Amino acid sequence: MSTALGYRTFGSADVQEFFDRPDPSPGPAEVLVRVAAAGVNPLDHLLRSGHVRALNGHVPFPQVLGMEAAGVVLAVGDEVTGLAVGDRVTGFALTGAGTYAGTTLLLAGSTARIPDALPETWAATIPVAGTTALDVLDQLALPAGASLLVNGIGGGVGLAVAQLARDRGLVVVGTGGAGKRERVAATGAAFVDYTAGDVVDRLRAHAPDGFDAVVDAVGGDSLRGVAPLAAKPDALVSVGDPSVTELGGAPVQRRLDRDGLERVAALMVAGRLDPNITATYPLARAGEALALVESRHASGKLVIDMRL
Ligand SMILES: NC(=O)c1ccc[n+]([C@@H]2O[C@H](COP(=O)([O-])OP(=O)(O)OC[C@H]3O[C@@H](n4cnc5c(N)ncnc54)[C@H](OP(=O)(O)O)[C@@H]3O)[C@@H](O)[C@H]2O)c1
Repeated sequence: MSTALGYRTFGSADVQEFFDRPDPSPGPAEVLVRVAAAGVNPLDHLLRSGHVRALNGHVPFPQVLGMEAAGVVLAVGDEVTGLAVGDRVTGFALTGAGTYAGTTLLLAGSTARIPDALPETWAATIPVAGTTALDVLDQLALPAGASLLVNGIGGGVGLAVAQLARDRGLVVVGTGGAGKRERVAATGAAFVDYTAGDVVDRLRAHAPDGFDAVVDAVGGDSLRGVAPLAAKPDALVSVGDPSVTELGGAPVQRRLDRDGLERVAALMVAGRLDPNITATYPLARAGEALALVESRHASGKLVIDMRL
């Protein structure tokens, strides 16, 4: 039995409630994990609000919030290979099983062991922001020296893209609100404050012929504004707005596999990727963390630490 934060109907934050639930039994390709830390992501409130019912419309209530967690394996399903009871792991949760909880089910194929040196709070950010950054840069496959615009550089995904891009020798420019300037500068990227005048004009000053590629983490009108700055339409990739295809661009192709998780963990241990955790919260205050992400102006990653 553990405490979980979830909802019994789709809606705004006021449908969230704490309840106790029995530890779930792992299906053949799942592992039961004692959660040590859980990442907080925009998808969490999108699932709760019923905006992405193709993903969770079929899942019985109550659903528990959260998609990613790090912790210790308590039990493994019959078909699971490469993971054993007692392993420290990070991974993606079974949809609806949630990670804002003391225990949960992770999908074994999307779960990896983590190095001893990696704290669970860092590891909990690998599945969503970490591997999204890896996937989008692998998808673009830019050569060293290429220019990259990151639209929405101050969030969890944007700051990870900025660091991994620098690691690949790319020249990075990013957009964010004024409060993101210092954190972005620490990644080596140039920063353009989108609240301080015409952002497209000021980005053009950085790249008069356009950027070799554009990664968008904002979507909507902001995506439409920066899309023409991609040197070629197919060098535009959005991680959050599927309507990018109407602009000739592509959504990020997610792999969600063990290999990606292990690669990101190794980059963290090597000091090449800092998840930029700006705040940790006890489970009792997880709603505050999600509200900050839902405001769309969070900085870096927010993490629920079950030991607080
Ligand atoms: N496909 C996938 O698997 C996947 C995985 C992860 C995330 N995503 C999606 O990717 C998007 C970003 O995720 P995230 O985790 O990075 O979110 P996040 O941590 O909440 O960060 C979003 C950032 O965007 C900034 N922002 C908002 N409006 C902006 C604008 N007009 N111009 C520039 N920056 C702006 C925000 O702060 P300021 O405005 O204060 O700078 C904030 O720092 C979300 O839509 C999410 O659902 C998709």
